[in-house]
Parts: sequence; C-alpha cells; structure tokens
Amino acid sequence: MATARGLGMMLALVVVLMSCLVAADCECGFLTQSSGNQTRNGTVNGNEQLFFTNMMESKFFEMRDISRDGTWRRQQYNVSARAGRGEYGKSFGLDNVYTTAHDGDDTDTTESDGSSNSNGGDGVGLVVGSTVWDEAIPVAELDSARKDLHYGSYRAGMKLTAVNGTCAAFFWYFNDTQEIDMEFLSREFDPVKKIYPANLVIQSEASRKAGYDASKTGTFKVVNLTFDPTAGFHEYRFDYLPNRVLFYADSQLLAEMNGTSVPSGPGDIILQHWSNGNPLWSGGPPEEDAVLTVSYVKAYFNSSDSNVQSSWAESCRKARSDSSDESSSDRVCTVADVTAANASTGGAFFNTSDANQPSGGANDESGATCLGSMEANQAIVTSAILLVLMMTCL
Ligand SMILES: *[C@@H]1O[C@H](CO)[C@@H](O)[C@H](O)[C@H]1NC(C)=O
Ligand SMILES: *[C@@H]1O[C@H](CO)[C@@H](O)[C@H](O)[C@H]1NC(C)=O
Ligand SMILES: *[C@@H]1O[C@H](CO)[C@@H](O)[C@H](O)[C@H]1NC(C)=O
Ligand SMILES: *[C@@H]1O[C@H](CO)[C@@H](O)[C@H](O)[C@H]1NC(C)=O
Ligand SMILES: *[C@@H]1O[C@H](CO)[C@@H](O)[C@H](O)[C@H]1NC(C)=O
Ligand SMILES: *[C@@H]1O[C@H](CO)[C@@H](O)[C@H](O)[C@H]1NC(C)=O
Ligand SMILES: *[C@@H]1O[C@H](CO)[C@@H](O)[C@H](O)[C@H]1NC(C)=O
Ligand SMILES: *[C@@H]1O[C@H](CO)[C@@H](O)[C@H](O)[C@H]1NC(C)=O
Ligand SMILES: *[C@@H]1O[C@H](CO)[C@@H](O)[C@H](O)[C@H]1NC(C)=O
Ligand SMILES: *[C@@H]1O[C@H](CO)[C@@H](O)[C@H](O)[C@H]1NC(C)=O
Repeated sequence: MATARGLGMMLALVVVLMSCLVAADCECGFLTQSSGNQTRNGTVNGNEQLFFTNMMESKFFEMRDISRDGTWRRQQYNVSARAGRGEYGKSFGLDNVYTTAHDGDDTDTTESDGSSNSNGGDGVGLVVGSTVWDEAIPVAELDSARKDLHYGSYRAGMKLTAVNGTCAAFFWYFNDTQEIDMEFLSREFDPVKKIYPANLVIQSEASRKAGYDASKTGTFKVVNLTFDPTAGFHEYRFDYLPNRVLFYADSQLLAEMNGTSVPSGPGDIILQHWSNGNPLWSGGPPEEDAVLTVSYVKAYFNSSDSNVQSSWAESCRKARSDSSDESSSDRVCTVADVTAANASTGGAFFNTSDANQPSGGANDESGATCLGSMEANQAIVTSAILLVLMMTCL
C-alpha cells in the first residue's frame, strides 16, 4: 500500500515538474498553428506555423477578484443614445463586470495545469441589465491594460447569453477605423432552427465612409456556427497578421479577410457586452439580465514596444546560453489548440502564476517562469531514477 502511494506521489511530482519545465521553456517565444487558405504570397497552404514573441494568459475561471488583477481594466463611462447610434444610451459600470470563483480558505487551489479548479467559478461575467436607468442600458466592458498588442493570435473561451437583445463582442481595437471584431447578436439566435450567426468585422476607413456599416464593405462576414454558443463554452479566436485576419471557433477556420482594410499598428483587447436598443444591431433592451461569461483569454503576440522587444531578445539569448544540456530545446513553446471539450478552462496554460496572487507586473512580460530549467531538469532526472527503482522493487 505504502509503496503504491509513494509511486503515485512520485508520478504526480514528475508530472508537476514536467509542466514547470514546459513553462520555463518559452523564453524565446510561441508557435501557433494556422489553418488559413492563403499564405502571405497568395498561394494556397493548408497549415502553417506562426511565431510570436510574447504572451498574455488569464484564467478567469480561477480568479476571485478581477479588480485586483493588473492585466485587465473594467471600464466606466457613458455613451449617449445619439453618440452610440441607438435608441438608448449605454452606461458602462464597474459592477457589471464580476468574477464568479468562490472565496474561501480552501488552500487546495493551485493546480498549475488549470485542470482542477476546486474553488473555481465559470469565469468573468459581463452583464447587460434589463433595467433602463436615465435612458441608458447598464452594460459591461473589460480591456487589457496593455496597448502594445500587435500581430498576434487572440483567443477567448466564452459562453454567450440566450437572452434576446444584446451584442457580445471580443475584439482588438486601436481606433474606430482600426478594429477587428467578433460580434454575436443574441436576437439572431434561433434555437428552433439551430441558427447561430457570428458577425466577423474589420472596421476600416472604408467602413467609416459607409457610416460604420461594415456590411457595405468587403470586410464583413456572417458565418453560421455549427454549435449552440449559449449552451457551453467555446473558443473564439482571431489571428491578426500582416495584411490578413483569420477568424476561428474551436480552432476551426470560420473566415479569412485580407487587403488594405486590415490594420497595421498595435492596440488592445476588449471584451464587451452591450445593448442600445438599435433594432438593426443589438436589439434589446433585454427582458432580463443577460450574462456573457468568459472563462479565459490567451494571447500570443508581438509587442510594438521596443523595450519589450529587446527584453524578449535578451531573455531568449540568456535562456539559450544558460541551458547547459545538449538536448535542450530552442526555448520556443508550441501552443496547443483548444476544442469545445476544453474551452471551459482553456486546457494547458504556460502562465503558471496563481490567478489570485498576480506576480511580476511590468517585468513579467512572458510570464514563462516556474523553476529554473537546471533545477527542473535535475529534479526530473532524480524523480525518474527513483521511479525506476520503485518500479523494479514492485
Ligand atoms: C509562398 O510561401 C510559401 C510558404 O509560406 C512557400 O512555400 C512558397 O514557395 C511561396 N511561393 C512563392 C511563389 O513565393
Ligand atoms: C485575398 O483573398 C482573396 C479571396 O479569399 C484571394 O483571392 C486573394 O489572393 C487574397 N490576396 C492576398 C494578397 O492574399
Ligand atoms: C513576430 O516577431 C518575430 C521577431 O521579430 C518575427 O520573427 C515574427 O515573424 C513576427 N510574427 C509575425 C506574425 O509577424
Ligand atoms: C499570468 O497570470 C497572472 C495572474 O492572473 C497575471 O497577473 C499575469 O499578468 C499573467 N502573465 C502573463 C504573461 O500572462
Ligand atoms: C453615467 O450616468 C449615470 C446616470 O446618469 C451616472 O450616475 C454616472 O455617474 C455616469 N457615469 C460616468 C462615468 O459618468
Ligand atoms: C485611426 O488611426 C489612424 C492612424 O493613426 C488614422 O489615420 C485614422 O484617421 C484614425 N481613425 C479615427 C477614426 O480616428
Ligand atoms: C428577438 O426580439 C426581436 C424583437 O422583438 C425579434 O424580432 C426576434 O425575432 C427575436 N429573436 C429571437 C431569436 O427570438
Ligand atoms: C446561415 O443560416 C441561414 C438559415 O439557414 C441561411 O439563410 C444563411 O444563408 C446561412 N449563412 C451562411 C453564411 O451560410
Ligand atoms: C478554404 O478552402 C477550402 C477548399 O478550397 C474551402 O472549402 C473553404 O470554404 C475555405 N475556407 C475559408 C474559411 O475560406
Ligand atoms: C484541448 O483538448 C484537445 C483534445 O480535445 C487537446 O488535443 C489539446 O491539446 C487541448 N488544448 C490545450 C491548450 O490544452
């Protein structure tokens, strides 16, 4: 009995150390899979790998208090009906963005692979209220603190509301003519006919000229999802690349856009849930409070900030020269795709920080730290030897 338990613990240790080693391996960047139909030079190419230097990973499903996380900023501002081109105004309030993981003294919450969240909630909730107040609808927005997010692969695990009359949006933003959007209108969902459209939009100078009606430009596509997005979590993703954007759901390509409408500069990532009564877009106000739940965000990107770029180059160079074992990797981590099966927790994360004890800050650009690789390697070798010894004893 004792031996079996020891064996189990040893296995667990090896698994934990392996995951640390993976995390410590990313100093030089990230490779993501892309399944676009066109390559940059216009030839057809089923799969290619994209390379990015930095990451930002947030486990909302483990987070107890979003206001204490420096990575994200809840927004508070008002938009009049006229300015928002709606029948009502929008009142973005801090209280409309909330975390659902439980508080408590349970200390057993630190599984670093994110597979077990004993204190976890579903994620961060963004609510659109049904009670119009002062001619404005209570709505919600959460922005990344960083605004240096350039080319990148941006992903969010989300469960949409089935309540008629809201727009749920996951987007990259620089200004009103440089914006990449995935928008979901609950009024368009038809559970009887099983129709669930996704509105994919690039806002550009051309759409400004069309009165911000991107449907009058080539950069608006409506794609029917093949699942009910209100029944569970799915991963919504867009890859913002030089001269093209690829949109995905559960790692399946939905659409591809290219051309001069594609932005070229840096921006931030925004999660928004809103309604302004415009019957042609959000509809609403909703008849009951409507919640968009976001389980996680993962972003693999290049920074536009030259300080971040040089610190990436420096830590990559250092990590490669520090690694003394010949078999060591190139310190580039390969990002695994997420499917509907793991969109509620996002599967594996490279960010091993406790979601409730944010570490680092400004210096934690890659977050790819766990154990020093030497330490981890030695510990794994030791564990492996012990494991082999124990197996031969059995
Ligand atoms: C286009 O790019 C692909 C890889 O991205 C390359 O294999 C191919 O040779 C290129 N074709 C031309 C015509 O340059
Ligand atoms: C843009 O996309 C269209 C249609 O998908 C394709 O025919 C064209 O070659 C693409 N252009 C470039 C520059 O990739
Ligand atoms: C991101 O930056 C790296 C390093 O400069 C570069 O090699 C890579 O091609 C960039 N990725 C994209 C998609 O532009
Ligand atoms: C890792 O997660 C922590 C806790 O949520 C967060 O503070 C930090 O910014 C994250 N780091 C990266 C690089 O994503
Ligand atoms: C938004 O409008 C509401 C209602 O008029 C007001 O109570 C609130 O202070 C305003 N918020 C901001 C940030 O101006
Ligand atoms: C967005 O930024 C670009 C580049 O700075 C600028 O040319 C464009 O006019 C801006 N659009 C708006 C709506 O401010
Ligand atoms: C949502 O409400 C609008 C306006 O009442 C209605 O036209 C639309 O059919 C509704 N959508 C669904 C899916 O019930
Ligand atoms: C989405 O489904 C609706 C209803 O079946 C259909 O009218 C529409 O053409 C579909 N859209 C696409 C892009 O296939
Ligand atoms: C990609 O190409 C395949 C085969 O040509 C086509 O069936 C599919 O619709 C294309 N996908 C997109 C998103 O353009
Ligand atoms: C998500 O699950 C799939 C299998 O369904 C697996 O192949 C993939 O590695 C997982 N993704 C992550 C990020 O853990």
